Amino acid sequence: LHIAVLMGGWANEREVSLMSGAGVADALESKGHTVTEIDMGRDVAMKIAEAAPDVVFNALHGVPGEDGTVQGMLDLMGIPYTHSGVATSVIAIDKQLTKQALVPHGIPMPGGRIVASAELFERDPLPRPYVLKPVNEGSSVGVAIVTEDSNVGNPIARSAAGPWQEFEELLAEPFIKGRELTTAVIGGPDGPRALGVTELIIETGFYDYEHKYTEGRTQHVCPAEIPPEIAALCEDYAIRAHKVLGCHGTSRTDYRWDDELGEEGLFVLETNTQPGMTPLSLVPEQARHAGIDYPELCDMIVREAIR
Ligand code: DAL
Ligand code: MG
Repeated sequence: LHIAVLMGGWANEREVSLMSGAGVADALESKGHTVTEIDMGRDVAMKIAEAAPDVVFNALHGVPGEDGTVQGMLDLMGIPYTHSGVATSVIAIDKQLTKQALVPHGIPMPGGRIVASAELFERDPLPRPYVLKPVNEGSSVGVAIVTEDSNVGNPIARSAAGPWQEFEELLAEPFIKGRELTTAVIGGPDGPRALGVTELIIETGFYDYEHKYTEGRTQHVCPAEIPPEIAALCEDYAIRAHKVLGCHGTSRTDYRWDDELGEEGLFVLETNTQPGMTPLSLVPEQARHAGIDYPELCDMIVREAIR
């Protein structure tokens, strides 16, 4: 097949996407496909039209790319593409909309509210500790954990590290203490299947951008050393979220688990419709443990797009 790998763009996660795209392009070439790599600019429709691929591999992360806009453009152009379609992407990129979709289906997620960043100068939106995050970013861009001794109010609002600098609104959620887990789902002719559970262990701080992309800052334990009933619940929630949201190709659902509470302590944070696809990313790693190597995984995602 002739495959255009779409990557980069102008999202905050541009650099991650370039890494995903480069890895995917190599993998697809090793499978015998012809690949055109496209770093998305405003002329992306022209570039794709010029390349005239059989299928587009969407290796974009964040906005735009994971939010339905690029998917809509490809629908209009009549070109098949990997991963989820417009409606799924619009909902899943928004962490608050995702709750509205998943919670009624019995998938537990932390309660949250949208706050105007300016309001953070005045008062805490929730009892501490809580998490502030943009509704539609990935890779922990703009995330802050407000603890008992954080300096909220004027001092914190002025802090260079605060996400309120860039975002007018933020999602505030209660902080769930405990462990960080994730489950990948891959689509196939027999329906979606979960690939296992990985635990992310970090020494200090939280699983932020730096921990995600600095070699050696986070330990990936795959399969996670957790009770079988928690692993089963992770897989169950991930598949249900994939189905309820209408995901295609692959998705990855992220959790916090308060292990003192057992099954009641497991919460879905979000479902990623364009999870990281660098050869060292979580989905490829879990796939490897499930016996699917990286080139085969990329090829499977392409096959799902044209099935
Ligand atoms: N947003 C990053 C790419 C992820 O979910 O893996
Ligand atoms: Mg994400």
